[in-house]
Amino acid sequence: MHAQNSKKIAVVGTGIIGASWAAYFLARGYTVAATDPAPGAQQRLRSLVDACWPTLERMGLHESASIDRLEFHDNVAATVAEAFFIQESGPERLELKRELMRELDAAAPAETLIATSSSGIPISQVQDVARHPERMLIGHPFNPPHLIPLVEVVGGEATSLQAIDQAMQFYAGIGKKPIHIRREVKGHVANRLQAALWREAIYLVQEGVASVSDIDAAIAHGPGLRWALLGPFLNMHLSGGAGGMDHFLEHLGPPIEDWWADLGTVTLTPELNQTLVQQVNEAIGAGDMARIVAQRDAVLLELLRLKAAHDRLP
Ligand SMILES: NC(=O)c1ccc[n+]([C@@H]2O[C@H](COP(=O)([O-])OP(=O)(O)OC[C@H]3O[C@@H](n4cnc5c(N)ncnc54)[C@H](O)[C@@H]3O)[C@@H](O)[C@H]2O)c1
Repeated sequence: MHAQNSKKIAVVGTGIIGASWAAYFLARGYTVAATDPAPGAQQRLRSLVDACWPTLERMGLHESASIDRLEFHDNVAATVAEAFFIQESGPERLELKRELMRELDAAAPAETLIATSSSGIPISQVQDVARHPERMLIGHPFNPPHLIPLVEVVGGEATSLQAIDQAMQFYAGIGKKPIHIRREVKGHVANRLQAALWREAIYLVQEGVASVSDIDAAIAHGPGLRWALLGPFLNMHLSGGAGGMDHFLEHLGPPIEDWWADLGTVTLTPELNQTLVQQVNEAIGAGDMARIVAQRDAVLLELLRLKAAHDRLP
């Protein structure tokens, strides 16, 4: 890979997501210019980047990567002035995002791509404030962005196809797995898929069919293992044996339609929330969060390494 150190990425908003993005961009050899108006933000960002760095070292740093390439500015204009790419990760509030995007658009060079990490605000609802709305898009990561490869790229009504292409290439070039979502829908794609599963999981707890820990076991020791490797459609194809997807749909399509008709809907009432919180606490035991997170991240790193070494997995 060529040296990246002359190229600068702006990270605007350095909370949970922005800090993780900043660490990842630094690890890929870029200079990162960051800004966040919260008191103590610079110190928090530097601590978070330091905390991520050993993991990023294990993943493999770009030859130009250095924590010293992190700049912090007290204003948006200085942060974006020399950036070729902006990753906005400010608070998820429409009016604030619109104001921030207006500021970024006014200050950034016209050809600089502006991506927002937004989980739920359609880009069409913020890009009308811009002089150059064609370079604005969603680049939605999965938490934590320095570990999880998926980035959902979504354009709005005024986004150019060229900007989508450039963003797809940029994310792929830094080792991410971008997917292009062709229409703006609430929750993009991956969170909608999660929401579908969460609805049924919570319904099954509500109905007393299975406990929180049994449902976690059902996914973590069952389909979740295969989903991490293939995704739902290739799994269906393989479940069809020699006949593939065609046979699967013919053979299991009718029972699946029958199950769909039986799936539940839930409302998150205070009582149901309390049941879920209580069962999760019982399942993980007190004070064990840090060990679970450390073990999850360690196994995730190994899994990412193994996946990268197998070229027929998507
Ligand atoms: N947390 C998640 O799991 C997750 C996952 C994917 C995407 N996202 C998206 O990422 C974005 C950030 O979420 P988060 O979880 O990091 O939130 P967060 O609250 O941790 O961070 C937001 C940061 O923005 C800063 N900020 C406030 N006003 C600002 C301004 N005018 N300019 C720049 N920064 C400003 C805040 O001080 C804060 O540090 C949101 O749009 C969210 O939808 C979150």
